[in-house]
Amino acid sequence: MTLWSGRMAAGPSELMMAFSASIGFDRRLAWDDVQGSIAHVHGLERAELLDCDQAAALVDALEAVATEIADGSFAYVATDEDVHTAVERRVTEIAGETGARLHTGRSRNDQVATALRLYTRRELGEVGRAALGLASALLARATKAGDARLPGYTHLQRAQPVLLAHHLLAHGWALVRDVDRIVDALERVDVSPLGAGALAGTSLGLDPDATAAELGFGSRFENSMDAVSDRDFVAESLFVCALLGVHLSRLGEEIVLFSSDEFGFYGLDDAWATGSSMLPQKKNPDVAELARGKAGRLVGHLAGFLTTLKGLPLSYNRDLQEDKEPLFDALDQVSLACRALAGLVTSLRFDLAAMERAADAPTLAAVDLAEWLVERGMPFRQAHGVVGSLVRAALDGGASLAELVGAHPDLGPDAAALLEPGAASARRRSPGGAGSAAVAVELERFSRRLALDERRLDERRPDER
Ligand code: ARG
Repeated sequence: MTLWSGRMAAGPSELMMAFSASIGFDRRLAWDDVQGSIAHVHGLERAELLDCDQAAALVDALEAVATEIADGSFAYVATDEDVHTAVERRVTEIAGETGARLHTGRSRNDQVATALRLYTRRELGEVGRAALGLASALLARATKAGDARLPGYTHLQRAQPVLLAHHLLAHGWALVRDVDRIVDALERVDVSPLGAGALAGTSLGLDPDATAAELGFGSRFENSMDAVSDRDFVAESLFVCALLGVHLSRLGEEIVLFSSDEFGFYGLDDAWATGSSMLPQKKNPDVAELARGKAGRLVGHLAGFLTTLKGLPLSYNRDLQEDKEPLFDALDQVSLACRALAGLVTSLRFDLAAMERAADAPTLAAVDLAEWLVERGMPFRQAHGVVGSLVRAALDGGASLAELVGAHPDLGPDAAALLEPGAASARRRSPGGAGSAAVAVELERFSRRLALDERRLDERRPDER
């Protein structure tokens, strides 16, 4: 039997049910649906729409359902169109006709929005924690990297030597911004739609503020029509996951590149690499490639769901059921990718000698030579020209850059010393830059930032409030 069988002379078509059912994927909202229903029962009791025995019987039945779901014994049946139907059906089996009072003053429209917000509040926080886990893995490697350096790239051409720690933390700061966005998005997730009914509230004396408080939401909806049709929190979560996924893809791509023989900077731990079914010598960076590849799917979820929302008239429309699969998948996949990349990063072997060989190519100190001239009064544009022509002469063959610098009237042996391994990056001292002193400060600030963000996520953790 459907929830609306009174209205119809005939039962639903089997294909219609198959097409519209969401039970295959929304059953993971079961726990949150039960929590929302328990709060609703308490609201009905406060409004004297249930006496205390009826309310207790319904809460007992809902708790029994929660137990069945948790231990896996909950039996779904063919007519369970969605998780809300399934829970209500089972409550009615357990509590008899009192079960028929559960849905008083409520619609699946406010019910599903409530359950999905409860779910998102918890799981988006978990994504934040996974991102912080990866950020901590980067920090641990950066801290241990000491003064090791590698070339910093622009246009994928060697640009200037940078500390490995600085390079690793560049990825870390992007993750910190993702966590910031998550904390911010959680604020808007944290609004209860329960009590909005189908779209217009109810004539019964229910108090949405009280149910919002009971469910630990920061506030209740302001407008019942908005409450049942608003999926901004889903779109925002998808955006946060997509951008985080894009960040992971950049880190993944770099690990792919740096672990190639052409770069030879990173070695893959056996436990975090795959082999080839045909080529016996291969060791492949599949984890990094998958992290790179997931971004396509995450961006797709965002684009797809925004398209679903576009042009929807107020208020609830069944199109909104399309919110769940992308959201669940995005949250699952991006957390998994963060955790896998954390394992990969932790286990990477750094070939510091290869990195330093590349970083210490004398031409990478060219701008330091120009700045040396600037410090001695030469206009930068002129200094750029002087050093540029020395680099060109060195590349043309004959003398090395060090010899040419040593012999140049404006430069000389002191300037040539800048071309010694590590000398250029040691001189870099601007705050936030890639030199040793600045990076020591950066490591400290990054580590404090991670601790702060962990606290911010904890403050938004539902059961900690
Ligand atoms: N499964 C539905 C969803 O996910 C629940 C709400 C159904 N509401 C309705 N009026 N048909 O959106």
